[in-house]
Amino acid sequence: MSLITHPHARELTKSVRATVLVFKDPRSVELLNRIERLAPSEANTLIMGETGTGKELVARHIHGLSNRRNEPFVAVNCGAFAESLVESELFGHEKGAFTGATSSKAGWFEAARGGTLFLDEIGDLPLSMQVKMLRVLQEREVVRLGSRTPIPINVRLVAATNVNLADAVVAGNFRQDLFYRLHVATLRLPSLRERPGDILPLAEFFIEEHCQRLGYTRATLSPEAERKLLSHSWPGNIRELENSIHHALLVCRNQRVQPEDLHVVDMRSPVSQISAPPAYPALPDESSSNSLQDALNRLFEQNLPNLYDHIEETVFREAYRYCHGNQLQTGRVLGISRNIVRARLEKIGEIAQSPRSASHGTLKL
Ligand SMILES: Nc1ncnc2c1ncn2[C@@H]1O[C@H](COP(=O)(O)OP(=O)(O)OP(=O)(O)O)[C@@H](O)[C@H]1O
Ligand SMILES: [Mg+2]
Repeated sequence: MSLITHPHARELTKSVRATVLVFKDPRSVELLNRIERLAPSEANTLIMGETGTGKELVARHIHGLSNRRNEPFVAVNCGAFAESLVESELFGHEKGAFTGATSSKAGWFEAARGGTLFLDEIGDLPLSMQVKMLRVLQEREVVRLGSRTPIPINVRLVAATNVNLADAVVAGNFRQDLFYRLHVATLRLPSLRERPGDILPLAEFFIEEHCQRLGYTRATLSPEAERKLLSHSWPGNIRELENSIHHALLVCRNQRVQPEDLHVVDMRSPVSQISAPPAYPALPDESSSNSLQDALNRLFEQNLPNLYDHIEETVFREAYRYCHGNQLQTGRVLGISRNIVRARLEKIGEIAQSPRSASHGTLKL
């Protein structure tokens, strides 16, 4: 577990995790105003936004603008831990609480005492943990595993999600009571294509930061490169923009970024259609759902063993192939989080077991 405080964040990560925030487009300026109004309150806050829209950065900013700014900011990725470990990681444990608990350990709630606890990808929190989380929020105290003594906690909770939690409630994957607890204040981060006025200022910002870091003379964008940046749909949002600028700086000549230096994959495929609801209502057409039904009926008739596992495995394997091995995209196609995709792909042996899901989780910085 690490304690992360805002001013040192950049030292902890390769990306230029901004200590500067770029908010130029009118929609972003509006967002920033809202952040500034919400931050000093003690309200639990739910940040919603597509991947790479800056949820974690905004959470840090909220902390930095709050009265808790000199206290810890603890970031926790709820999807990064095996279900059996989540409880002890969140609430801590006493020595001997379970096999392998050789010493007692404080959980994240205790580590964040007085400060802010950032629960990233809250939608991935197992249902069993959601009940316990709710109790902690109501009682404002935690009990370590293997202990009976409640420890009072004083944390502000900021949670983030890139799945629609209201839908997850309807689908039975997220508890409604916890949803309302978290939903006190909400911030929806617009995707980059909804705030096009930020594209060039962000590109300039990343050029500046990366050139400095790489020890390069400051590069510039050609007008054609600017046009290419403006016309791309940025499904990976700000992170994708940062990566493509980083790559362009490594390959461009004479400190001038040309369109061919910018590696962007245009996803005007069914995948991006799903993530753009207003233009593309995502209703499956009748013929495709009928053929799916037919295929299922044929399978039912065959009386196969482990049919459910087989179907689930096929869905993940095929979606992963369809997305050319891109986990993020696979999650988007299936409408679930990248962490769930990764866990399932590991389970079916499509990808190697990552050390973090194999044993202890790592914090995402
Ligand atoms: N307003 C901004 N100004 C400058 N840089 C930004 C801004 N918003 C995000 N970034 C940068 O974009 C990258 C992605 O941000 P962040 O990790 O906060 O996104 P996220 O929404 O948490 O993504 P994910 O859902 O994939 O976890 C980071 O490198 C961050 O520093
Ligand atoms: Mg994040």
